[in-house]
Amino acid sequence: MAMPSKVKIVEVGPRDGLQNEKTSIDVNDKIHLINLLSETGLSYIEAASFVSPKWVPQMATSAEVMAGIQRNTSVTYAALTPNLKGFESALAAGVTEVAIFGAASEAFSQKNINCSIDESLARFEPVINAAKEHNIPVRGYVSCVVGCPYDGEISPNTVANVAEKLYQMGCYEISLGDTIGVGTVASVNKMLQAVSARVPIQYLAVHFHDTYGQALTNIYAALQHGISVIDSAVAGLGGCPYAKGASGNVATEDVVYMLNGLAIETGIDLNKLLKAGWFISDKLGKQPVSKVSNALRAKCE
Ligand code: HMG
Ligand code: MG
Repeated sequence: MAMPSKVKIVEVGPRDGLQNEKTSIDVNDKIHLINLLSETGLSYIEAASFVSPKWVPQMATSAEVMAGIQRNTSVTYAALTPNLKGFESALAAGVTEVAIFGAASEAFSQKNINCSIDESLARFEPVINAAKEHNIPVRGYVSCVVGCPYDGEISPNTVANVAEKLYQMGCYEISLGDTIGVGTVASVNKMLQAVSARVPIQYLAVHFHDTYGQALTNIYAALQHGISVIDSAVAGLGGCPYAKGASGNVATEDVVYMLNGLAIETGIDLNKLLKAGWFISDKLGKQPVSKVSNALRAKCE
């Protein structure tokens, strides 16, 4: 399979990146981050999450965030919606796309959304129906596509089953999440072979956390399968509150640098992206988890 000539980056920093931060982040800082990201050339920003504030307190300000951002007409502003209640809030807040999130692991599904895989699919049905009524596209996530923090190794066939169901239910794209970053090229290849036999490759995206430092290599493997949608978070922020020890998403800066090197088009201005990453990292009092970001900052200063 030929490598794609263009890649869409799904920037999940404002959601996946921030959801696990323990201290409450000022709404204005979240808004400023999204505004900076909106000017980088990114076409898709996962900006918010309409989940229970008891489960993920950091996302409780999602409606305020959506109300405060300066919308760029070339950017899709999306949010997670686990159920109809979340969808209605997202709709009221003016999101342009929503995402439902399931898992290929029963234990993770229970810990993350308090129901089994089958129950989760049943809960997603009304969300998809309501979204259709409002012409809102629905993206689907599958978590734990190679490993689960509770159940260990996950079979590629189980991932393919869940991905296929989300696809048949009407998700226009299925993002395959290595939630705890345990995948290697070998396990990712097996998983992608199984999933792409059931869902056409053009409907698949990859979502790697970088806990074991394998994310860029795994993305390269996904590109070789022809996948052209990559989720990442500016400055490598993040982690899932229900996946203990999991580190952040692969850093968008590192992905863009790699894609630039491969002459694969992203439409993203790396310099502007770096600045957005430095802004939020400084606010959080952290160094970016991006080698590209740190190398280029050292050169600038
Ligand atoms: P539940 O407790 O089973 O829900 O939680 P419930 O329907 O029984 O309702 C309980 C309470 O929650 C009620 O309030 C509801 O109103 C409220 P109370 O009467 O107790 O005051 N509630 C809500 N409030 C706001 N927005 C909502 C909502 N729904 C119910 N949408 C639920 C089920 C799904 C809500 C809960 O488990 C939850 O919010 N989980 C979210 C967990 C989460 O956000 N995890 C991180 C995102 S997933 C991720 O990071 C992985 C990903 O990045 C891919 C990868 O890396 O693999 C996507
Ligand atoms: Mg994630």
